[in-house]
Amino acid sequence: MISQAKLRQAGVKIMIRVLFNKKGGVGKSSLVVNLAAISAAQGLKTLILDLDTQCNTSAYLSALAISEEDSIAALFEQQITFHLRKRPAIDYCQPTQFDNLYIIRGSERIKELESELDSRHKIYKLRDALESLREHFDRIYIDTPPALNFYSLSALIGADSCLIPIDCDDFARQGLYSLQQQIFEIQEDHNENLTIEGIVANQYMSNAKLPGKIIDELIAEGYPVIAEYIPQSVKMRESHQSKTPLIYLAPKHKLTEALFNCYRALETN
Ligand SMILES: Nc1ncnc2c1ncn2[C@@H]1O[C@H](COP(=O)(O)OP(=O)(O)O)[C@@H](O)[C@H]1O
Ligand SMILES: [Mg+2]
Repeated sequence: MISQAKLRQAGVKIMIRVLFNKKGGVGKSSLVVNLAAISAAQGLKTLILDLDTQCNTSAYLSALAISEEDSIAALFEQQITFHLRKRPAIDYCQPTQFDNLYIIRGSERIKELESELDSRHKIYKLRDALESLREHFDRIYIDTPPALNFYSLSALIGADSCLIPIDCDDFARQGLYSLQQQIFEIQEDHNENLTIEGIVANQYMSNAKLPGKIIDELIAEGYPVIAEYIPQSVKMRESHQSKTPLIYLAPKHKLTEALFNCYRALETN
C-alpha cells in the first residue's frame, strides 16, 4: 500500500510542476505544452522549462529559433564556467507566440554538460534558479527526459509537485511502483515539499477494456489517479505538427476539453 501521507495535501498551493516518467512516449511533452498553454490562456503568466535533449516541447512551441545563448544549456553552463557576473534565470525566459506563455528552450548541448555538472555537485542550482523565478511567474511547468538523470533529479528537487503521465497500456504499471519509491526518496533526501500531485492517464481509449481495467487497479492500489482521463486522438499529432497548442487549435474538441478538465482538477484541488 502506498504511503498517503506523502501524497498531495488538499489546499497546498502548487506553482512549479514537473512532468516525469522514466518511460518515453507517455505524453510528458504533450501535457507540459497543453497544460501550460491552458494556464496561460486563463491569464496566468506561465513558464515552460525544457530539460529534454530531444527538445520536443521547444519544437512544439517554435522555440528552437531562440538563440542557444538563451537556452537551458547556457543557463547550466554558467554554473561550471567562470563569469564575473552570472545572468539571472529570468534573462533566459523568452516569450512564445502565445499570450502569457514563456519558455526556457531546450538544447541538445546539456548532454555534454551533464557529467561535469554532476561531478561538481551542481544538483541544487536549478532549484535556486526556480526560486528566483517564483516572483516573475504564476506557474512553471517542467518537461523532463525519460530517465532519472541529473536534469530530472534537479527538476524534482526544485519543484512543488510531480505529475506522472502514463499511457494506459499493459506496461503502464511496470515501473510505477519503483518510480514512486524514487520520488519518495527525493522527498526524504532533498525536497520535503515535493508532492506527487497525480497520475495522468493519457491516450485513454474508453472503448477498449484493458485501459479501464489498468486504471481501476491503480486506483484500488491507492495511486492518486487524476479523475479526468485524456483520450487518444489524432488531434494531438495535428497539434504538434501545426505547432499550436490544442486550446488554440481545437478549443471545442473532446481532447481539449479533457485537458482543460485535467487542468481544472489540478488548480482546484
Ligand atoms: N492523448 C494523445 N492522443 C494521441 N496521441 C498522443 C496523445 N498524447 C501524446 N500523443 C502522441 O504520443 C507521442 C509521444 O508523446 P510525447 O508527449 O512526446 O511523450 P513523452 O514526452 O512522454 O515522450 C507523440 O507523437 C504525441 O503526439
Ligand atoms: Mg518528451
